[in-house]
Amino acid sequence: MRLSRHFLPVMKESPADAQIVSHKLMLRAGMIRQTAAGIYAWLPLGHRVLRKIEQIVREEQDRAGAIELLMPTIQSADLWRQSGRYDDYGLEMLRIKDRHEREILFGPTAEEVITAIFRDNARSYRDLPRTLYNIQWKFRDEVRPRFGVMRGREFLMKDAYSFDLDVEGARHSYNRMFVAYLRTFKRMGLSAIPMQADTGPIGGDLSHEFIVLAPTGESEVFYHTNWEAERSLDVDADDAAALQGFVSGLTDDYAATDEKRDEAREAEAGDKLKQSRGIEVGHIFFFGTKYSQAMGLSVQGPDGSPVTPQMGSYGIGVSRLMGAIIEASHDDAGIVWPEAVAPYRVGLINMRADDARCSAASDDLYAKLQAAGVDTLYDDRDERGGAKFATMDLIGLPWQIIIGPKGLDKGVVELKRRATGERVELSVEDALAKVTG
Ligand SMILES: Nc1ncnc2c1ncn2[C@@H]1O[C@H](COP(=O)(O)OP(=O)(O)O)[C@@H](O)[C@H]1O
Ligand SMILES: [Mg+2]
Repeated sequence: MRLSRHFLPVMKESPADAQIVSHKLMLRAGMIRQTAAGIYAWLPLGHRVLRKIEQIVREEQDRAGAIELLMPTIQSADLWRQSGRYDDYGLEMLRIKDRHEREILFGPTAEEVITAIFRDNARSYRDLPRTLYNIQWKFRDEVRPRFGVMRGREFLMKDAYSFDLDVEGARHSYNRMFVAYLRTFKRMGLSAIPMQADTGPIGGDLSHEFIVLAPTGESEVFYHTNWEAERSLDVDADDAAALQGFVSGLTDDYAATDEKRDEAREAEAGDKLKQSRGIEVGHIFFFGTKYSQAMGLSVQGPDGSPVTPQMGSYGIGVSRLMGAIIEASHDDAGIVWPEAVAPYRVGLINMRADDARCSAASDDLYAKLQAAGVDTLYDDRDERGGAKFATMDLIGLPWQIIIGPKGLDKGVVELKRRATGERVELSVEDALAKVTG
């Protein structure tokens, strides 16, 4: 993409209303614009990153055996009356009346919708186990939307729902999601720590929040230093016993949010106990027959008698993740995108758009990058070099290739790695090989 034809409204100064670094950088880098409190438009650059994050989430859900569908954003109040949650949900639910005075709502989550779909279409134990997911916009009328996309009112969520014949099966489904989540976040360059979370009236230990450490996080968290080490996620998720062993092994290391602190385990951790703040990027939850029972979901069991499926739900804050990634990966000059979610892989800078030789060399390399399938943002504008560097650093693409007259005299271009700032002079061919490899 040529920057001269892009829609990339970058800002030099930090906007006054943004408090945390990810929010400031997303505004400055022209990724989002607020259109109403807690509601954002995704400008082209932000939209590209959102799609990349979404795609990683999707691939790992698919790999875990979950099946994608798409549920509507607007739901009927009647469904929520069936589960008994319509009156309980409170002010976070955006309640709407249509022209016939029928009560509808903008979905804050989709347990009711999916349970009704499963109820009306699953017949027997052969339809189980199944995990269904969708990536869809949610609305929650948060009292205090803040920190940009981190706590929005409208936000993109991946929500999955599992249906199993018995509790043992449900635990396996839960464990599959547990590792799928760790894999998902790792692919984005994040280390997320699973922390035991409140399970409500059902009890048990089957609820975890996945927390990315960041000083600006909303939760206070405590964890064993073992969580700082890189962990292998190599386990056969189809083998229920092996997977259970793997998950238990991981959760042997203490990690808890401030609501779930355990004095005994903290004492045990001793000076290995660390305290930090964190961002909740995912939440998984087993809730048994809460919705299946209330909404009359039952299937015919293997012996012919009816069975009420055991359910779990599994959320990932897709739009929130973008903020979390930036909180974890930036410097004074701007964002430093991990390769996997970068909006473009290469930023190509023509230092002298008014110089025919520079422009010809830049156009030529741009064509080669395109032919090689490398996502490239080409700064072909007639602007000062300094301004171009600042924009490229701000938007944080992994590689920059800089073409200027002095280099061309020597037959080289400059290749800069955004993450380290390291710059090397190379021939065009070598630079091309480096960024395609
Ligand atoms: N207001 C919000 N803005 C952005 N992301 C959100 C918001 N609320 C929840 N999420 C994301 O969706 C995931 C699943 O939501 P859930 O656990 O049901 O929400 P909560 O913890 O707020 O009750 C959360 O882990 C978080 O990543
Ligand atoms: Mg949660």
